[in-house]
Amino acid sequence: MSTLIQSLSALAAAGALMFSAPLDAAAPQHDVDGELFLINRQWRVSEYYVPQVRVAKVSGQVRNMRPDAAAALEEMFAACKAETGASMVSVSGYRSWGKQNLLYSRKVKRTGSKEKADEYVARPGASEHQLGLAMDLGQKSKSNLTASFGRTKAGRWAAENSWRFGFILRYQEGWEDVTGYEFEPWHVRYVGRENAEKIYQADLPLETYLQKIRGETLLSIVTGEIIED
Ligand code: DAL
Ligand code: ZN
Repeated sequence: MSTLIQSLSALAAAGALMFSAPLDAAAPQHDVDGELFLINRQWRVSEYYVPQVRVAKVSGQVRNMRPDAAAALEEMFAACKAETGASMVSVSGYRSWGKQNLLYSRKVKRTGSKEKADEYVARPGASEHQLGLAMDLGQKSKSNLTASFGRTKAGRWAAENSWRFGFILRYQEGWEDVTGYEFEPWHVRYVGRENAEKIYQADLPLETYLQKIRGETLLSIVTGEIIED
């Protein structure tokens, strides 16, 4: 290889490296294993997306999550018990495409229409549970997966503290038009500690938060300026 070509390819490699980090933030959608991967009615995964998961060592059922999320969940359950005295239980973690399909079909039957079912249950391929990054929380001996979870000790604590462990409350009151779902005080999504703190402070749905950081990142690439958080 000539020296000129060698220099040019080194330059290109350095350039790619410089830009890959901001571009990841600008377009997290390309990385299905990323902590900020967005999944909703518009952005779906296929039935072939199956993450690596492990059983979280907590009380409850359907305890599988991606390893980082499972470890964070274990810490969160222990902290909730220590800080409130209430015992959290897992209700539903990782769900395959097929399992989600089953839940969605059941909801359509129960509610009598797809439109009504869509307010509560994601269609297969559109659920964060398929990423292995979502958990439906409950409190021991309480009726769970209802709005009343938000009024339990564990539910109130989760709303204020789950960010400390890398989780966000994904479907909040007043966000229905953006997220597409009714208020779910029990559904937390793992995004990693750093992201969770920023999203909690921004007090925005994940969709809006991602738009904001994509806009800022693209602007910084164009102008060459670093934008402080
Ligand atoms: N209930 C949430 C939206 C899900 O089914 O993933
Ligand atoms: Zn859920």
